[in-house]
Amino acid sequence: MKTPLSLGLIGVGGFGLFHRNAMALLRQEGRARLTAVADPTLDRHLQLKQDLLAQGIRIYADYRLMLESEPGLAAVTIAAPIPFHEEMAHACLQFGHKAYLEKPPVPLIQQLDRLIAADGQERIHVGFQLVVSGWAAQIKQWMAEGRLGDILSVRAGACWPRTDAYYARAPWVGRMIYQGRPVFDGPASNALSHLIHSVMYLSNAREFGFDEPFEIQGELYRARPMESYDTACVRGIFRTGVEFTVAVTHATERELPFQLRINGTKGWVQVSRDGRRLESSWGGRDFTEETDSLVNLSYRRFVDFVEGRSIRPLTRLVDTRGYVLATNGLLISSGGIHEIEPQWVRRYEGPGGAGYVVTDLYEAVVETIDTGRLFSEMSLGWGKSTGTVLVEELQGCVLHETAKVHSSREPAPLTPA
Ligand SMILES: NC(=O)c1ccc[n+]([C@@H]2O[C@H](COP(=O)([O-])OP(=O)(O)OC[C@H]3O[C@@H](n4cnc5c(N)ncnc54)[C@H](O)[C@@H]3O)[C@@H](O)[C@H]2O)c1
Repeated sequence: MKTPLSLGLIGVGGFGLFHRNAMALLRQEGRARLTAVADPTLDRHLQLKQDLLAQGIRIYADYRLMLESEPGLAAVTIAAPIPFHEEMAHACLQFGHKAYLEKPPVPLIQQLDRLIAADGQERIHVGFQLVVSGWAAQIKQWMAEGRLGDILSVRAGACWPRTDAYYARAPWVGRMIYQGRPVFDGPASNALSHLIHSVMYLSNAREFGFDEPFEIQGELYRARPMESYDTACVRGIFRTGVEFTVAVTHATERELPFQLRINGTKGWVQVSRDGRRLESSWGGRDFTEETDSLVNLSYRRFVDFVEGRSIRPLTRLVDTRGYVLATNGLLISSGGIHEIEPQWVRRYEGPGGAGYVVTDLYEAVVETIDTGRLFSEMSLGWGKSTGTVLVEELQGCVLHETAKVHSSREPAPLTPA
């Protein structure tokens, strides 16, 4: 009988639970098993520590020690906080491991390009699990069959309210910089990063194709008093001439599950209800995929790659350039995070907790999805217009410095290199 693959996990709590569950399913099949974990907080979670030890899993506080001490690992998952992704991914590559790197890969394009250069053998899979969804596969197939005709525009948006508890759960949440490392936490660059990555994926009819924008215009706002942003809209143009627009926020009381609409010369498709409904000009269907089943499938596809059953990771680092360029262009185009004035912000207390809501923001997100307009192009009292940036100019911007300036909570100009 074949020996199960040995797997490592960096970051056991939080989203690491989804990875432990995905690995447990593979263990039942005798295909792979978690053999070592690294997390500096396990001494504070004694029950979890005991459960892991009882399964024969070796525990390390320091991920580097795990990599040094476990030469038999076939692959490692990085499910640790965003600010540590870059150094952890480089370390996995140095030790020769294939790695499943949770989304978002890294905050800045300079960090991503350094990692791409280090990953010449394409050993890193980035965990944007929506690309394994049934609806994404169906849209790709329709596009390849030409059902939509030429793509004219892609529009997406969501209001995912986030309360005080969300921001209090870890010290890097709501930050631009943490312990000197870029974080760029916020709806476009963390919770709803999947949506922007899916726009890059679904703007391209090729099976594994992803597009990259060449021009970006965007607006970043904060209603919550914090370092980072909670509201964003961005418009970009791909080299094909196709335009995309995305609006996302955590600063509404009402939820708008994500929607993504592709308009073509022959027809349209729309995903709504956070991926549970797919409609098109020729009919619709429902999907029941939840995050855990998508992560299980995404992880299974990664293990196919580790075992050599597929020749490449589903989302390679290079495939995330479009997403990182779009969010970095948004940061630069915005020229700072605009603080929404108190007259437009209300604090609410609901059954799910307390948060901030911005006047007319829910309707503005719906309008972006319908019309492609940015917030400053609507008659909102708080919208701030911005200029466009060419993504090639982003390479010359000191984004790390920009992020530091943003942390002053004042809109600030760009710092060119
Ligand atoms: N794919 C998805 O749908 C999805 C959903 C949520 C979060 N995520 C991603 O998962 C990652 C982790 O997010 P989270 O919210 O679970 O974070 P978190 O702050 O809850 O941390 C996750 C775990 O990492 C551990 N950790 C912290 N510092 C560490 C270090 N230096 N070395 C090893 N472990 C360390 C923490 O103790 C915790 O157990 C992020 O990249 C996030 O964007 C993905």
